[in-house]
Amino acid sequence: MNERLEIFPTERQKLYEKFADRLIKASNLSRQIVSFQANKEEPIYRWFKYKEGFSSTLVQYFLTKFSDKPGKLLDPFAGVGTTLFAGQSLGWDSYGIEILPVGIFVMETRDALHNIDPADLGRSLQNLWSEYDKFERTTLHLNHISITKDAFPEDTERALNRFLSYCEHVPQKEIRTLLRFAAFSILEEISYTRKDGQYLRWDYRSKRDLAGKPFNKGRILSFEQALRIKLSQISADLVPQSDSLFETPRNNGHNYPSIKIIDGSCLQELPAFENDFFDFIVTSPPYCNRYDYTRTYALELVFLGCDSDKVRNLRQELLSCTVENKEKVEQLRQTYTLLGKSSTFDSVLRVYDSSLAMSEVNYILSELNKLDRLNNANIPRMVRNYFLEMCFAIYEMARVTKRGGYCVMVNDNVRYGGEEIPVDLILSEFAEGLGFNTQNIFVLPRGKGNSSQQMGNYGRTEIRKCVYLWKKE
Ligand SMILES: C[S@@+](CC[C@H](N)C(=O)[O-])C[C@H]1O[C@@H](n2cnc3c(N)ncnc32)[C@H](O)[C@@H]1O
Repeated sequence: MNERLEIFPTERQKLYEKFADRLIKASNLSRQIVSFQANKEEPIYRWFKYKEGFSSTLVQYFLTKFSDKPGKLLDPFAGVGTTLFAGQSLGWDSYGIEILPVGIFVMETRDALHNIDPADLGRSLQNLWSEYDKFERTTLHLNHISITKDAFPEDTERALNRFLSYCEHVPQKEIRTLLRFAAFSILEEISYTRKDGQYLRWDYRSKRDLAGKPFNKGRILSFEQALRIKLSQISADLVPQSDSLFETPRNNGHNYPSIKIIDGSCLQELPAFENDFFDFIVTSPPYCNRYDYTRTYALELVFLGCDSDKVRNLRQELLSCTVENKEKVEQLRQTYTLLGKSSTFDSVLRVYDSSLAMSEVNYILSELNKLDRLNNANIPRMVRNYFLEMCFAIYEMARVTKRGGYCVMVNDNVRYGGEEIPVDLILSEFAEGLGFNTQNIFVLPRGKGNSSQQMGNYGRTEIRKCVYLWKKE
């Protein structure tokens, strides 16, 4: 092997050629629509910024373009439930599986809105500040873990604990939850942290020992300032006033089909569904990009009562997309064995093993690792396991989809050690081996570079960001 590793990307090139006629530049799918950006001004969606999400417009676009009537809809990586709520507003019976308590809390709060009478809410909000000012029995609600310690100015943390103590005394459960949700939604704003890339970035004013160039996140709102803004946004959205292109649940979801929220890993939960159950899937799994949801959302997880063991376990249970993730293959084998489906387990593994492009990627990454050309020695393991777990998830998605039904998936390609990993092509190849037919891979007009370290080494080149459309034949 030369010092400078040169491997002609034969198998990836062949796979590209196989799908070339289905790779389409999609000028109507802007990055705005495919990301959370387009939700930023949408009533209710805008309350909590989940920047890993996609927009309700994207979901409604595919549902209306590729089906003539509502049916059963699934998002196995539901996040904060964009698929579920956008589908619900069009009459779809929507199911979502999500592993992170952050998404579960957002979905459950939103789902409970139809039990809230806006007049009751108005009264509670009117009385809130005078009651809160008088409230003195503060107990400790935030039990920090090492990565969140000292995240808030002391006054802010006191006010937050006091408010959460006050919430415990609000008699109506749904209003209590909504008030807690309002506090949950401002944690980043009132803290010394900012969600930036893979980790939380810390402001120079925090008590932490910080290495590197000092970071100034700008004005940090007090708890009361931020909460007042959030509550006025919430109450404005609960009064019907939307002129948006697509109907939002004006009556807070009442009269629409209910949504089903499943708290768990889709790798464990999907096998429990019967065959041919869903008409449509719209989803976006975590990307294979080392992004750690448990670190980015550490403040929110602590707010929801997660301790360090829980956070560590969650990190392992999430689809492998960080260098810390260990293999789940034995866990998967056990799941299928217990269901009496050992042969299914073997056949899914065969689909993974028979992808020559996958083998090529695994081989190249392990060679690059030997040459010390990767930023982290666990990248080959992460990539191998990411695709292996996605192979099982796609098998299940194909199995639970009815014939003629669709799966829409948003995902980004990635690059490690200068080698492009065509996530779109490899996952579509798996999908074809598991019962789907790739109709199109819509390529967004502008791709993106990869991490800053890699751009330093290889210069910024475009890598594809895509929306795949698979049909069960
Ligand atoms: C790209 S985000 C999806 C965001 C979603 N489309 C939205 O608009 O809110 C991927 C989600 O998958 C979740 N996730 C990761 N591993 C999972 C697993 N094994 N089972 C279920 N959800 C998982 C993450 O917690 C994250 O919320």
